[in-house]
Amino acid sequence: MRTYLVTGGAGFIGSNFIYYMFRKYGNDIRIINVDALTYAGNLANLDGVKDRKNYTFLRADIRNKDAIEKIFKENNVDIVVHFAAESHVDRSITDPEVFVETNVVGTAVLLNAAKAVWEKDDGTFKEGKRFLHVSTDEVYGSLSDPKDYFYETTPYDPHSPYSASKASADLIVKAYVDTYHFPACITNCSNNYGPYQFPEKLIPLMINNALAGKKLPVYGDGRNVRDWLYVDDHCKGIDMVIEKGRLGEKYNIGGHNERENIQIVKTIISTLREILPEDDPRRNNVSEDLITYVEDRKGHDRRYAIAPDKISSELGWLPDTKFEDGIRLTVKWYLEHKAWMENITSGDYQEYYRRQYSV
Ligand code: NAD
Ligand code: DAU
Repeated sequence: MRTYLVTGGAGFIGSNFIYYMFRKYGNDIRIINVDALTYAGNLANLDGVKDRKNYTFLRADIRNKDAIEKIFKENNVDIVVHFAAESHVDRSITDPEVFVETNVVGTAVLLNAAKAVWEKDDGTFKEGKRFLHVSTDEVYGSLSDPKDYFYETTPYDPHSPYSASKASADLIVKAYVDTYHFPACITNCSNNYGPYQFPEKLIPLMINNALAGKKLPVYGDGRNVRDWLYVDDHCKGIDMVIEKGRLGEKYNIGGHNERENIQIVKTIISTLREILPEDDPRRNNVSEDLITYVEDRKGHDRRYAIAPDKISSELGWLPDTKFEDGIRLTVKWYLEHKAWMENITSGDYQEYYRRQYSV
């Protein structure tokens, strides 16, 4: 039985990936979820798998060399799927150092620990071992020409401390491939949305605020463009790269779904009004009057847009979920998981929100 070590499995994409993999492979795989449970990690995300015999949670920090080496020595890990990261651009602007520590140093610790147990005496690697590094389209910087897209060959030009730390991590992975022929692949995906996303990110933040009748803070002129992908389609792409991707290659993942932020906010408002029952008191809160333009994000990238040609033509990946369906599923999920949202927005989140939005 294949053993997957998933880092950051208690976060947004990591938890969706674990569900995706158990839906697809059932008891044919084993998953070990290694997560430090930072503010972004939430074990409640994994309630649906926690009792499975082929699932294990280990609380560990990827910066902790001893702890990570021990996990690799004690478990015959076949596949590493590396999600763990500090992931929020705004936090990287106010507190960059932890981004370098987790995203860069943490990735190096993982690579080294995997190399130590996977490498044979002759310097080659054991059969079937794979390290999938989950990265972002933000490493490519910002697009100004509306006809332009990010390709795997687009030069790296990160702007925020977050994207610079992810770009650095990508380059460390590439260095392991180039130097040791280490069996790794990198995926660079566009903006994800779906269940279990922490409400510091645009979509769940707007849903949560709208339901509470709070202002909807749109940065700058609201016309920055992001390329949105339903989280399961990202998970499908990662699984395909693990199964069929060429070692040492990188693959962009994105579904040609560019939207201005203001469009997203208006879509959330109309979807909420459509789905909320007439007699739900929160329905009266939800209106475009809540939209408030606020000070722009520092160094705010204008547009991201992925060209997914390589993963589509080489591996046959195509997204399954249209944005109109995905956003409905997402809004419905948050409506049905009120307690989940209340739980993570109490405590530290309130303090974060006050600081970030000066309220
Ligand atoms: P997230 O913030 O929701 O989750 C991150 C997880 O990593 C949390 O469970 C957290 O506890 C854990 N973690 C953080 N620091 C750790 C450490 N030092 N040791 C161990 N665990 C630690 O992030 P996400 O949105 O799910 O993103 C996951 C990955 O996907 C990241 O690498 C991110 O760069 C990448 N990515 C995200 C998106 C997106 O739209 N969210 C798009 C492309 C790529
Ligand atoms: O592109 C992939 C990246 O997408 C991932 O690598 C990151 O981990 C992930 O956080 C996401 O980064 P963004 O900065 O694009 O996502 P965020 O949800 O923070 O913001 C989306 C857009 O919405 C961005 O242009 C900023 C804007 N925004 C965001 C917030 C939180 C607002 O206008 N108001 C807000 O309150």
